[in-house]
Amino acid sequence: MKVLRTIAQVREALGGPRRSGDRIGLVPTMGALHAGHVALLRAAGEGCDLVVMSLFVNPSQFDAADDLARYPRTEEADLRAAETEGVDVVFAPSVDEVYPEGFDTWVEPGQLGAVLEGAVRPGHFRGVATVCTKLFSIVQPAVAYFGQKDAQQVAVVRQVVRDLGLPVGVVAVPTVRDHDGLALSSRNAFLSPAGRETALALPRALEAGAAAHRSGREPVAAARELLNAQRGLVVDYVAVADFDVPTLVAAVRAGAIRLIDNVRLG
Ligand code: PAJ
Repeated sequence: MKVLRTIAQVREALGGPRRSGDRIGLVPTMGALHAGHVALLRAAGEGCDLVVMSLFVNPSQFDAADDLARYPRTEEADLRAAETEGVDVVFAPSVDEVYPEGFDTWVEPGQLGAVLEGAVRPGHFRGVATVCTKLFSIVQPAVAYFGQKDAQQVAVVRQVVRDLGLPVGVVAVPTVRDHDGLALSSRNAFLSPAGRETALALPRALEAGAAAHRSGREPVAAARELLNAQRGLVVDYVAVADFDVPTLVAAVRAGAIRLIDNVRLG
């Protein structure tokens, strides 16, 4: 496995394989890998000849500076996990490599980037859209893999690809959950045992919403009822979003920890 730090090294390493027709898969990550990321790496391994994982904590998608500072950084363990999963190339650039002095070009998603997560975290999807576009340009993958866990991110990336005519397929991989139903997230590590109990209302409420939908009732009301009944939980939003398929999405805060999750309807 090659660990590369510069754009020039990536171009150099991938030029040959691309010319000989290898199908390149890209898995963008911010590290702190867990089984959710591993599911993406495995999907890429099955669908592609050569797997590139990017490992970059992207400052431009964080709104609060302290959130960025607190983001877990576990590069050594991440590289071991990537190697175990058969990743061929890890692109782990510095902030200066991606955003050099004078950087001033942004990919600004429209309406889709301004609602739900985008309303709570202004500028977040501009940062995501910009870094993904730059990664697509550097790696030139045939396919890029994203987690359904971040359903709005998938929708934003698909829109960018469509609107800019980028030659990249976008695959969404189903959400990986812990045995208790909580979607895996690097933020789960910050939950106390009590906080985790509180947070479990999120997947349960989404399941209740999906069940309500299946029996012809209103999913948002059903989900909200469960969330409102959970002490210690603050609801940011619950809504049905019109992504590729209608999706029940929710964001909550259990103390200082913010969690998002979703289920597809229908
Ligand atoms: P990060 O949070 O590291 O997530 C990397 C990828 O893993 C994303 O596509 C995310 O949706 C997926 N993922 C996270 N938890 C998952 C789970 N429980 N099941 C399945 N997939 C899961 O998302 C980002 O990084 C960044 O925004 C990035 C796309 C890398 C751009 O900076």
